[in-house]
Amino acid sequence: MSPLANDTLLRALARERTEYTPLWLMRQAGRYLPEYNLTRARAGSFLALMRSPELCVEVALQPLERYRLDAAIVFSDILAVPDAMGLGLRFTEGEGPRFAHPVREEQEVARLAAPDPASLAYVMDAVRATRRALAGRVPLIGFAGSPYTLACYMVEGAASEDFPALKRMLYARPDLLHRILEVNAQAVADCLNAQVEAGAQVLMLFDTWGGNLSAAAYEEFSLAYSRRVFESLARESEGRRVPVILYTRGGGNWLEAMAASGCDAVGLDWTVDPRDARRRIGQRVALQGNLDPAALLAPPEQARTEARRVLEAFGPAPGHVFNLGHGISPLANPESVAAVVDEVRTHSRKMRSQS
Ligand code: CP3
Repeated sequence: MSPLANDTLLRALARERTEYTPLWLMRQAGRYLPEYNLTRARAGSFLALMRSPELCVEVALQPLERYRLDAAIVFSDILAVPDAMGLGLRFTEGEGPRFAHPVREEQEVARLAAPDPASLAYVMDAVRATRRALAGRVPLIGFAGSPYTLACYMVEGAASEDFPALKRMLYARPDLLHRILEVNAQAVADCLNAQVEAGAQVLMLFDTWGGNLSAAAYEEFSLAYSRRVFESLARESEGRRVPVILYTRGGGNWLEAMAASGCDAVGLDWTVDPRDARRRIGQRVALQGNLDPAALLAPPEQARTEARRVLEAFGPAPGHVFNLGHGISPLANPESVAAVVDEVRTHSRKMRSQS
């Protein structure tokens, strides 16, 4: 395997000094890039794209061709895992993901099991091929959904604002939800470990819906199972630590608990004040975030100003990875992305050389 030409992300996640703040963007391969839309059209659908390791490599590299990013992320989806459990994933135009077989009744929950690794072989093929194509340019991030966030889609059967079926189960039959979460924790740990074996050098757990829980329910139904995933992960590969990032959208109230969960970095959404986050977490873990993705809808100059504001709020101390506070919007302006990437490189270099 080629040595890493740029390990800035790994050093920042280990809270070591770096010459500048490393940067990548959640959902950096996606519909805001015309070249992504062309490849997706060639594939025929998002699912066909996701199931073609060759095209996954192509779209994972597209944002790196345009921008000086410090990481690549495997092109796949968090819903590949429940799909491999037999739930039947589909994407409907304008509506988002939908499962043909949601898990709601007692018998359906009892039948649920972690997937056969063979059914996720296409994901691992994409990881291996992407790592090979990167040839050591930047580290490769593998990922999964948190057990709770996967359960939201599995019980509801589709995307939702407030996940009423999931919430009903949580309060009426918590035993059923706990059983789903146990299976998910195993499935997610297996999937992440397999990605590391296939070449992923950093891992990220997306808890996109953890923020829809009460404080007590967040601990019991979300964080407890993310912790279980972290305990089951092989944390070293190729003689290096494999750092893990935990992102919870709407997790601002629980930063201390997230930082103590066994992760190496906490991903902040755009509503969190980075100064407040650092005060509360201290130097226990690295922080990732947290530009409002909507800033990329503005012209380049305004987006640049917002990026600088975020850098200043995190300050020059080691242990910051620049990112958005949530996934990039299909409406993001590619020129504004370029301005943000440039600003993070140049301004953070200045900040760090003066500190
Ligand atoms: O560059 C990358 O990060 C690509 C890999 C990636 C995708 N999805 C590809 C994708 C990653 C890391 C994800 C994570 C993901 N998927 C999350 C967690 C992060 C977040 O944004 O909160 C969630 C909740 C999903 C589930 C999902 N996938 C939804 C709800 C949707 C439809 C909504 C939408 O944005 O269209 C998807 C589809 C999806 N996954 C797309 C991409 C590029 C768009 C599909 C398309 O091309 O039509």
